[in-house]
Amino acid sequence: MAETEALPKLREDFKMQNKSVFILGASGETGRVLLKEILEQGLFSRVTVIGRRKLTFDEEAYKNVNQKVVDFEKLDDYAAAFQGHDVGFCCLGTTRKKAGAGEVEDKVEELKFDRYSIFRPGVLLCDREESRPSEWLVRKFFGSLPQSWASGHSVPVVTVVRAMLNNAVRPSDKKKELLDNKAIHDLGNVDGSLKP
Ligand SMILES: NC(=O)c1ccc[n+]([C@@H]2O[C@H](COP(=O)([O-])OP(=O)(O)OC[C@H]3O[C@@H](n4cnc5c(N)ncnc54)[C@H](OP(=O)(O)O)[C@@H]3O)[C@@H](O)[C@H]2O)c1
Repeated sequence: MAETEALPKLREDFKMQNKSVFILGASGETGRVLLKEILEQGLFSRVTVIGRRKLTFDEEAYKNVNQKVVDFEKLDDYAAAFQGHDVGFCCLGTTRKKAGAGEVEDKVEELKFDRYSIFRPGVLLCDREESRPSEWLVRKFFGSLPQSWASGHSVPVVTVVRAMLNNAVRPSDKKKELLDNKAIHDLGNVDGSLKP
């Protein structure tokens, strides 16, 4: 696939642009892996995590990560925390019960971003057995299924994160993109040059 060869070059071009990024939900499973991958790939010259509480990072790699604590109930008062960033990733935990996925997407549309992408993964495969026994059971179930079927309905968190980053570094003339589980698998696994 042409994109396989193009991605390392796109990534290098992107790095040269010294862009800044904010991440919402960096304490969650997806956001945590996303932050780690962003630092490992060195894609951005400034990284800010925005959350409702301060996080503790012990590793040296995180020493330049900026943190902003905001009250999500009064976001208008915290507009400054978001300003001055080129790219933003939202990994906040929302469930269809709390906020319909469609409703969230409509709200995002109203914000009139130059470009935005919505990722709709299947069941996220990760390691958080203790905190969420019900999700752990679902993951065990998917783990016992034939690979081809399971990958149609689930996806490792690291694949989602790589799809998000690969998407961010490739130019697009589309204002809005929607990536379903299959598209996430394809884009997240396209570049074999990244370490497993
Ligand atoms: N898990 C799955 O299988 C699955 C599948 C498809 C889609 N998704 C969607 O993918 C997204 C990320 O999932 P995840 O599993 O990575 O989420 P997660 O581990 O539950 O992380 C949720 C993040 O959102 C923050 N958050 C939650 N409620 C908040 C609130 N009221 N105000 C401010 N911050 C809040 C949490 O911050 P604190 O640490 O401060 O609580 C945390 O950083 C979610 O929207 C989820 O619905 C998940």
